[in-house]
Formats: sequence, structure tokens, C-alpha cells
Amino acid sequence: MGAPASPTLLFTDIDEPGLTTRAVYERRGGYESLRRALAMDPADVLAELEASGLRGRGGAGFSMGKKVSFLPKGSMDKYLVCNADESEPGTFKDRELMQKTPHMLIEGIVIASFAAGANRSFIYIRGEYVLQADALDAALAEARAAGYVGEDILGSGHSLSLVVHRGAGAYICGEETGLLDSLEGKRGNPRLKPPFPANQGLYQGPTLINNVETLSTVPAIIRLGGEEYAKLGVETSTGTKLVSVSGHVQRPGNYEIELGIPSREIIYGLAGGPPEGRSIKCWFPGGSSSPVLTEEDLDVPYDFDSLGKAGSMLGSGAIIVVDDRTPIMNVAMKTAKFYRHESCGKCTPCREGTNWTVKMLERIDGGEATPMDLEIMASVQEHIIGNCLCVLGDAMAMPIGSMIAKFRDEFEAHIERARLERGLGGAAASGVALAAQGALEEHPDGRLAPIGAGDQAPGAHRGEPGTHKGGA
Ligand SMILES: Cc1cc2nc3c(=O)[nH]c(=O)nc-3n(C[C@H](O)[C@H](O)[C@H](O)COP(=O)(O)O)c2cc1C
Ligand code: SF4
Repeated sequence: MGAPASPTLLFTDIDEPGLTTRAVYERRGGYESLRRALAMDPADVLAELEASGLRGRGGAGFSMGKKVSFLPKGSMDKYLVCNADESEPGTFKDRELMQKTPHMLIEGIVIASFAAGANRSFIYIRGEYVLQADALDAALAEARAAGYVGEDILGSGHSLSLVVHRGAGAYICGEETGLLDSLEGKRGNPRLKPPFPANQGLYQGPTLINNVETLSTVPAIIRLGGEEYAKLGVETSTGTKLVSVSGHVQRPGNYEIELGIPSREIIYGLAGGPPEGRSIKCWFPGGSSSPVLTEEDLDVPYDFDSLGKAGSMLGSGAIIVVDDRTPIMNVAMKTAKFYRHESCGKCTPCREGTNWTVKMLERIDGGEATPMDLEIMASVQEHIIGNCLCVLGDAMAMPIGSMIAKFRDEFEAHIERARLERGLGGAAASGVALAAQGALEEHPDGRLAPIGAGDQAPGAHRGEPGTHKGGA
């Protein structure tokens, strides 16, 4: 399958030499959108953002224009925070934007601050992104010198301070309220919501927080006009999206696509599909916290709602492909260990649930598990989803739950094989023994499960997985 032609807004000439400098960026029309926006009324700039239909590119997919409109009116200190933590495994698109076209992000921040009436702004960037932070610092110095940032920007009366803040590197500092605590100099722990940052965010002030890609899209919206931008993509997922493709594909990398194209065109057309002779076992459509899909789902349109309907989510736009030679146990173990390590420990379902899950996977791998452990593990995931302070707990439970639901046979075979290797007798035999003791009951499909466990898929009683990710 050949690579489809996609319109590009963010990646146009992204590899042009010198694009990190103001001179080259301006030669390509950079900062023209800022000039146009500053000549408008802030309410009209906001109207363009709303008309564009732009949804947040950091994970939750909340309407950007709506979020700007939630900030209270009136003169007070208001903040704009750019989330450049990029901590979701598999995601590396913001890094390319900041490294190669930092002025685009700065321009987007200044325009968004004008629409929101914010006068202080920060870019919170993960500490490991040294190259990108250096590129931003250099671009910021140039932008200040040219009067694009600072007092009375281009004589418009709008003023904005902008600081690049380097974080120490923790997954939870990508969660917006954990990020705000970290920015205030505290340990990055999520806050209870409400209040939402729009009302009470940084230093208790009204705060607009958006992802790097979201803010970098703003100059293109002003250039095209909101309505024209909304013609790209599909009705509820407008515009283009940067997708990071990694794992078992021949051409991993970042691709800009028009939202709504079939996922197959990204995985096979752009990224070349799995290596010769292999097939796809499963794929994460939106970073490691999204429920996995399989080969059967390759024709699902790549947009927010279609992926939600397919039982997963677009998340941060990071596709991770897993081929048929990879044991699902390995995928589950890696995923669970990551979230156990990154849990901040503030709430019990996440702190204990991530730890239990790793321990149960280790029991399976070590030949100590019975089929009942698989049921218990699925039930632990169900009890995490929707019961945590932030969605880091769900971020582990959703993919693990989907792996158990979709690859039960492979997990059961793993249990059986590992038990036989330890000389403990087959798992099926132990399942029959447990059923005889009354601990398991047989379901209509022949499956043995703990008494009263029912036959729900993990999370089924709380709606589709992914519908409550993130916090706008
Ligand atoms: C555990 C966790 C980690 C997150 N990490 C990131 C991140 O690294 N970058 C990001 O932009 N959003 C991240 N988010 C989403 C943010 O909380 C927030 O929704 C986002 O920054 C809002 O920007 P947007 O509306 O432009 O997407 C994370 C959310 C959670 C729950
Ligand atoms: S869900 Fe996990 S990361 Fe989030 S607050 Fe609770 S313990 Fe911390």
C-alpha cells in the first residue's frame, strides 16, 4: 500500500535548515498570524478557535476553544501553561515540533494568551528534553528581542511573560494538576478536581493548560480561519494530527495525517507495516494507556470518536504496533510495570492495583497461577477504572483489561505451560480441582470463573473505556 497524500500544517518544510531561527520562520510567514490576531478583538480570536473545532492533542481531546472560554473575564493575573512533558510511552511528536520549529509554539502561545486574556505563561518541558529546551530558550530570546513576547506586544497593549521551565521527569507531571504542583515547586501530585485549572490553577489563579501540538496549531487556524480549518478531518475530529508510530513497523516515526483516515493507511501506508513475514497481533492506538486493538480493527478511521466506538481511544496519537511473535504476557508485564513505577501512590486503587497486577503477572509467568488468577486480575482492573483520583490507574487498567479480554487463550496457555514447566500439573487440571471445591463456576461458554464474577468485559459497567480520560 502506498503512502497517502495528507495535507500538512505543522510539518510543512519541517526539515528546512535554519527553521529554528526567527529569520527563516518569518521568511515562511511566521508571526503573520500573531500580527493578524493582535489586530482583532480577543473575542473574535476566541470565536475562530471555537469554529475550528480543534480538540486537545495531549490525551483528553477536549475542545480547545471551549477551554479558553471557561477562563473568567476581568482583569486579574491569568496563566497559560503549555504541557511539554510528553510522558505517555510511544509519544514523541511534541519533541520534534519543539526541536525543529520552536517559534511556531511560541507564536501559538502568544495568540492563545491574547484570546484568553492571560498575561503570564510557562512551557513545562520534561528534563530529558535538553535539546528541545535549548531550542526553545534560543527562540524565546529572539522572540523577546523582536517584541513578540514581553510588554505591549507589537503595540497592541497585550503583555505576556513566558518562561521555559524544565521538569525533573515523572509521568505524573504530564497530568495537568500534577504538572501545576510541580511548576509551583512542590512534588508533582495530582489535585482533586473540581476546581478545574480554568478557575483555580497555577498559584490558585485561572489557568489555561494545553499541549504543545494543540498550541502549535493555533497560528494555522488564524491563517486559514476557523471554518476553513474545520473542513479538514471529520466532523467531530477536525484538522490534522501528528501521529507517532513505533514498535514493529518498518518505518517508525512521526507522521502528520488528516484525522479520519483509516488506521491501516497510517500503519501500513506510512509506517510500512510489520517486518517481512510477520503480522500484527495488536496495536495501541493512543499511547500505552489506550486499550489494545487487533488486526480486525485496522480499518477503523483514525479519529477521536471512531476509536472510542471501537473500544479504545486516540489519546496522545501514539500508535505502538506489536507483532505476532511477541508474547502478550511480555506486553502486559511491561505496561503494568511502567504504571506501577509511575503511580504517585496517593490513592489506593491505583497504588495497590498496579502492584497487584504486576504480582499476578509474575505468578502467571512463574508457573504459580491458576485460571482463577486471570479472573482476579481482570476484576482488579475493573475495580481500578473510574475509582482513582486521576486517570493514571485507568491508564494501566484499560490496556491490561483489553489484553485479558482479547488474548485470554494465550494467557491460559501461558499459565498451563508455566505450571507444567514447574512440575505443578496443568492449569486446566487445577481449574477443575478448584471448581470441584466450589471456588469456580462454569459459564455457558464453558469458561471457569470465580463464583459471581459474571461475564462482563473489564470496565463494561462504567461505559466505554477511555471516555473519561484526562481532565479538561
Ligand atoms: C497520567 C497522565 C499523564 C499525562 N501526560 C500528558 C503529557 O505528557 N502531555 C500532555 O500534553 N498531556 C498529558 N496528559 C493530559 C493532561 O492532563 C491534559 O489533559 C492536557 O495537557 C490538556 O491539554 P490539551 O487539551 O491541549 O490536550 C496526561 C494525563 C494523565 C492523566
Ligand atoms: S491514580 Fe495513581 S497517580 Fe493518580 S493520584 Fe491516584 S495514585 Fe496518584
